[in-house]
Amino acid sequence: MTSIQHHSSSIEMMEPLRDNHRRVISYLRVSVTDRCNFRCTYCMPARGVSFVDRDALLTFEEIERVARVGMGLGLTKIRLTGGEPCVRRDLPRLVGMLASLNGLRELAMTTNASRLGELAEPLKHAGLGRVNISLDTLRRERALKIARRDVFDDVMRGVEEVVRVGLMPLKFNCVAMRGVNDDELCELALFAHQAGGEMRFIEYMPMGQARLDERNKTITAAEMLARLRERFDFVPDTEGSCAGDPARGYVCRRTAARVGFITSMSDHFCGGCNRMRLTAEGALRPCLHQNAEVDVRSVLRGGGTDDDVADAFYRAAQLKWAGHHMNAFVPIYSRREMVSLGG
Ligand code: 5AD
Ligand code: SF4
Repeated sequence: MTSIQHHSSSIEMMEPLRDNHRRVISYLRVSVTDRCNFRCTYCMPARGVSFVDRDALLTFEEIERVARVGMGLGLTKIRLTGGEPCVRRDLPRLVGMLASLNGLRELAMTTNASRLGELAEPLKHAGLGRVNISLDTLRRERALKIARRDVFDDVMRGVEEVVRVGLMPLKFNCVAMRGVNDDELCELALFAHQAGGEMRFIEYMPMGQARLDERNKTITAAEMLARLRERFDFVPDTEGSCAGDPARGYVCRRTAARVGFITSMSDHFCGGCNRMRLTAEGALRPCLHQNAEVDVRSVLRGGGTDDDVADAFYRAAQLKWAGHHMNAFVPIYSRREMVSLGG
C-alpha cells in the first residue's frame, strides 16, 4: 500500500460528522465564487456589492482537498453554488476533480443557467449529475426587473441545453414574491413539468439589505398552494421527497406535474438539516443564517494536515445551532448578502 492510500484509508475511518443536535452532516454546499452575472433583487443590493479578491478564493485544488477530507467524514453529496458557479473560469475542471472523489454519491449545482448554453455539455461530461435552475419568471420584462440584467434568452437557451444533455432530474427554483411574480405560479409549474423537471417554490427570505423594507413580499407555501389549486388539483406527494430534502412535495393529479415548497419562513426544516457550507474564500459555515464560520483556508495555506482540515469540520459542526427562528416578523441579521452564501 502506498503512503497516499494509507493516508486516505486512515481518513475513511474517522468519526462521521455530527453536530450537537443529533444531526448527521452529509451534504456540503460549496460556493465556488461570490460573483454573479445577475443582480437579483432578492439576493443583493443594486449597488455597492464588493467581491472578494481573486487570490482569497480557494483554488480548485484546495476545494478538492476540503471535499476529499469531508468525504472521509461521511459526506456523500456536494452542491456547487455561488454567486453564480458558472462565472468561475474553468468550472468543468473542478467538476471533474470532485466527481472522482471516493464516497461521493451526488454532485449537483445551483445555477441561473445563463451560461449553460455553452457549459451544460462540458459539465455533464466532467461528471456533474444534475442542476437546480433559478427561474423566477417566464416573462422577459420581468426577468429584467428581477435580475436587473437582460437575461431571459440566455436562461432559456441554458434550460434547453440542460434538457438536451440530460442533466436530470431537473429542478427549478422560483422565489415567489408578492406583487412581482405571484401571478404566474401556474405557468412556472407547467413550464418545469414540460421541461421534464419540477418547480420548487421558495418562500422569500428577507435577508441582507432587503430585510426590512421587503418583508411583506414573502408569500407562504400555503398561500402559493391555494393559488395553484385555483387551476390544478395538487395533492401531497407521498412518494417524492428523499431524506434531507427540505421541499414539501405536491403532485397535480391531472397533469402529473410535481412541485415542491421550500418553507424557510413559515415552517423551517432545521430539524432535518444535514448541511455544511464552504464559502468561496474558504470558511466552513454551519448554517446559511448563522454568522459563525471556521476558517479552513488558513489551515490549508498554513501547512495543515488532513487531520487539521478534519478538525475544522468537527469544529464547524459543533457550532451548528439547532435552527433559526426567522419568520415574517423576525428577520435574520446575516452579516453576508445572499449572493456570497449561495442560497
Ligand atoms: N430568499 C429565498 N431564496 C433566496 N435565494 C437567494 N436569495 C433568496 C432569498 N432572499 C435562493 C433562490 C435562488 C438561489 C440561488 O438562492 O432559490 O434560486
Ligand atoms: Fe439548516 Fe441552518 Fe437552514 Fe436551518 S437555517 S435548515 S439549520 S442550514
